[in-house]
Amino acid sequence: MRLAILGGSFNPIHIGHLLLADAVLSSFSYDRIILVPAFQSPLKDESKGADPRDRLDMLLASVAADPRFGVDDCELRREGISYTLDTVEDIDWRYRPQGRPGLILGDDLAANFHRWKGAGELASITDIIVAHRTSREDLPFPYAHKRLENPIIEVSSGSVRESIRTGRGWEYLVPPGARFIIQDRALYLTGQGAVPDAAARPDGDKTGGQEGFRGLAFRLENDLGRLVNFKRFIHSRNTALMAWDIALAYGLDADKAYLAGISHDICKSFPPRELKRMALRDGKGLSRMEKKNPALLHGRAGAVYLQEHYRVTDSEILEAVEVHTTGCEYMGPIARVLYIADKLEWGRESASGLRGLLDRRPLPELDELFAAVLNDSVAYLDSREVIVSGSTRRLLALMGKKGK
Ligand SMILES: [Fe+2]
Ligand SMILES: [Fe+2]
Repeated sequence: MRLAILGGSFNPIHIGHLLLADAVLSSFSYDRIILVPAFQSPLKDESKGADPRDRLDMLLASVAADPRFGVDDCELRREGISYTLDTVEDIDWRYRPQGRPGLILGDDLAANFHRWKGAGELASITDIIVAHRTSREDLPFPYAHKRLENPIIEVSSGSVRESIRTGRGWEYLVPPGARFIIQDRALYLTGQGAVPDAAARPDGDKTGGQEGFRGLAFRLENDLGRLVNFKRFIHSRNTALMAWDIALAYGLDADKAYLAGISHDICKSFPPRELKRMALRDGKGLSRMEKKNPALLHGRAGAVYLQEHYRVTDSEILEAVEVHTTGCEYMGPIARVLYIADKLEWGRESASGLRGLLDRRPLPELDELFAAVLNDSVAYLDSREVIVSGSTRRLLALMGKKGK
């Protein structure tokens, strides 16, 4: 296998890195590019904004599912100053590439290449590829090399960091996987070092500390396309967006509302027997009505599925998904938001009248909005002579009493 190495601080990785690597793959006959994040570059200060693990995670997330890219953490394992000569020898020994490995250099680095440790030796054991980074000219480079004809992309890690810190648009300058890590770990917001204590990061409690909101939402949204049909997918995305909007309007946690919205129907296409089996794992048994109408169990099954497959532990998200089909007497605010969004999202033509409630200023109380939506859906079920579950009736009675 023919390999080329692209090293750098990747603080953070951005689309310029990947477009450059892509140009190398399409211009020369390499099979794979190995991305190598530096622990500490000899010529640059890497301490701004993200620790080495964050930078490695961002790289891995950015090239997921692309077999043309490998990520090697040898410089992070070595720690200390990262010298490219050590890395090339290490990679050569472990990967045993066919021929000499390529070594990709931007023309900005090429100017200082003579100062690198073992520059002459490096030039003799690799095929140096000099890429345009800052200049359209072929700047002089005294070592044997190949030139890459590539476009200059006006983005750098420094400019991405600066945009994040100052609140300018940056989200599409980095690959999605890296973007969600930056957002979930609140990286680069201060221009200082990384948030020192991982446990203090804002992604802690929603997902059991494993993953932040954006990463989880991204994964769920990708998986959902497989688990439900296209119509249901659009409904779920609309429900998530509306739940987000409503939660923001009422000062609630919009991240949780979005997660509840995107995942609430995740088990909707499961066959009845599977729904029963999943739902029973919450230990609450089955009511007569649930036995007769297993489709009602897609909420309970969904909550179990989220815990088992996505390690979601947040009780508000799980409750919202669990009770969204019938409601229950003691629903919390996120569960109410999901119930409303599920019924009012823009794909439901019949709800356009009730949607007007969301445009009122001042906004109706959340309870008032919820009662209106609940009344409407019970009236609809009654009109079609569908039996309404006991918990929905009890909830309706409770809301009626509150209104008096
Ligand atoms: Fe549903
Ligand atoms: Fe739904």
